Amino acid sequence: MDYNNIIVSEEGNIAMITINRPKKLNALNKETISELHAAFNDLNEDDSIRVIILTGSEDKAFVAGADISEFADFGVKKGSKLAQRGQELLFDFVENLSTPVIAAINGYALGGGLELAMACHFRVASSNAKMGLPEVTLGLIPGYGGTQRLPQLVGKGKAMEMIMTASMITAEDAKNFGLVNYVVSQDELIPLCKKLAIKISRNSSTAISSAIKTINANFKDGVNGFEKEIKQFGKCFGTDDFIEGTTAFLEKRKPDFN
Ligand code: CAA
Repeated sequence: MDYNNIIVSEEGNIAMITINRPKKLNALNKETISELHAAFNDLNEDDSIRVIILTGSEDKAFVAGADISEFADFGVKKGSKLAQRGQELLFDFVENLSTPVIAAINGYALGGGLELAMACHFRVASSNAKMGLPEVTLGLIPGYGGTQRLPQLVGKGKAMEMIMTASMITAEDAKNFGLVNYVVSQDELIPLCKKLAIKISRNSSTAISSAIKTINANFKDGVNGFEKEIKQFGKCFGTDDFIEGTTAFLEKRKPDFN
């Protein structure tokens, strides 16, 4: 499929989506959000793809936020719709994808950009990356899940401070707060993400998809995560991967989950 704002590439069983609006610091306009939805959906339905890496083009930005020029004249109704559509199409969609998604944060991740990185299953940053939720400087609050996911990752007090001050934090601070798992030089960013992706891709994709569902249940209102775990654990016993994994262990060989 041809896209105007993103580039999708594949290497073996790992896919990479690059948000490609460098002149606008990869800001998320409506079309980019639709394209990202389509790409994530296609890759998720492709059984040969085991991991997706999401990054921004060039070396300045992952994503500098939602595209401000698109909503500057919105009123209350359109504002609510913007957040609702975005959350449905992209942010909740990515968080609940069966295929693991790693955010490779290669520069500014601000507003909707940090919210997108937080919707991914985990994050790796380059040392030049800067992260923040500056929406209150625009008279807004984060609308793509930031008020919910930031406290989940860094704790309520730090999230309150980051959102109220609208400050950008460094990659190193983000690591100390638990927002990103690793900080490496820009040159090492994609190689490290690929290395992690390869490690993930050797494991059972059905078990990983169950793990994503179960871990996410911990953060959903009205869902009992322990019950979800029992169900998903039981479900694993009915998979080919379970047979292969346990047989390989007993035969003292490495499992082949392909
Ligand atoms: N929306 C639209 N355009 C954006 C943008 C955004 N979020 N971020 C950057 N751009 C554009 C700039 O307007 C500029 O375009 P022109 O060359 O056509 O003028 C281009 O990208 C380059 O940006 P700058 O010249 O500003 O670059 P800089 O190096 O001086 O500053 C920056 C970099 C600090 C990241 C600055 O661009 C900035 O503050 N961007 C906005 C960050 C922001 O407020 N993000 C939150 C958006 S609101 C949101 O995301 C709501 C939500 O939760 C749903």
